[in-house]
Amino acid sequence: MTRKKITILDLQRKKENSIPITMLTAYDYSSAILVDESEMDMILVGDSLGMVVMGLENTVPVTMDEMIHHCRMVSRGAKYTFLVGDMPFLSYEVSIAEAVRNAGRFLKEAGMDAVKLEGGTEMAETVRAIVRAGMPVMGHIGLTPQSVSKLGGFKVQGKTAESAQCLLQDALALEEAGCFSIVLEAVPDSVAQVISQQLTIHTIGIGAGAGCDGQVLVYHDMLGLFNGYSPKFVKQYVNLREQISEALVQYRKEVQAGEFPDKTHTYKMSKRELDGFLENVKKHQA
Ligand code: KIV
Repeated sequence: MTRKKITILDLQRKKENSIPITMLTAYDYSSAILVDESEMDMILVGDSLGMVVMGLENTVPVTMDEMIHHCRMVSRGAKYTFLVGDMPFLSYEVSIAEAVRNAGRFLKEAGMDAVKLEGGTEMAETVRAIVRAGMPVMGHIGLTPQSVSKLGGFKVQGKTAESAQCLLQDALALEEAGCFSIVLEAVPDSVAQVISQQLTIHTIGIGAGAGCDGQVLVYHDMLGLFNGYSPKFVKQYVNLREQISEALVQYRKEVQAGEFPDKTHTYKMSKRELDGFLENVKKHQA
């Protein structure tokens, strides 16, 4: 069967038919190709790149220009996956006009299909304006890493009846404002399940249990490429860091031992051309 580009309608159909939606982050051309080839539904160019690619302590310092730069690489590599660009901190909070303009850059300049922003009820008017301008918006509630300072750290959210109710209100407000999808990060599975059942749009969980309509993980976390803090919800499918480290050490040792490059990795010149070349060298030395 020929593969077609995933659309917002395909994602909605999956929710209606209880088919789990798959999403992974990617941050550059080569990782985007791999994720695209794995037939994932969506790629999130997350501002988590600030931590796993740029080595920052959190996502707060990530800029619009850095996000656009990485989104461009991803859209060149991913042909079929639905692409979501993550709006960085303070690119959508200052004014609605600025939020619409910045959201537009993700679609106009970087080839994204949609944008994601963090926040609940307080972001509803902003979401409404971006959607009115013709751009799909994914919401993000629960643990919202851009507010890490306000939350007092990377902590599970919605653990009390009252805070769970607030999360539900936020989700409903985002749906009403026009979001096509909502990420639920680090919330108890029972809360995420209820929210998912109450919404007609789909939820994407990260540390929110199996009751969400889909799942997302960070590329570097699930491939074992990142040696920083790894939360309980991360499943590491392979330890690439270990494999890459072994390969790097082997390369260094082979160069030091004169074993690399060997014959199979070396270009050769014909004997005739070599003799002519050496003859010329001799002449110039004389
Ligand atoms: O930036 C990111 O990667 C995210 C996911 C963790 C949802 O926001």
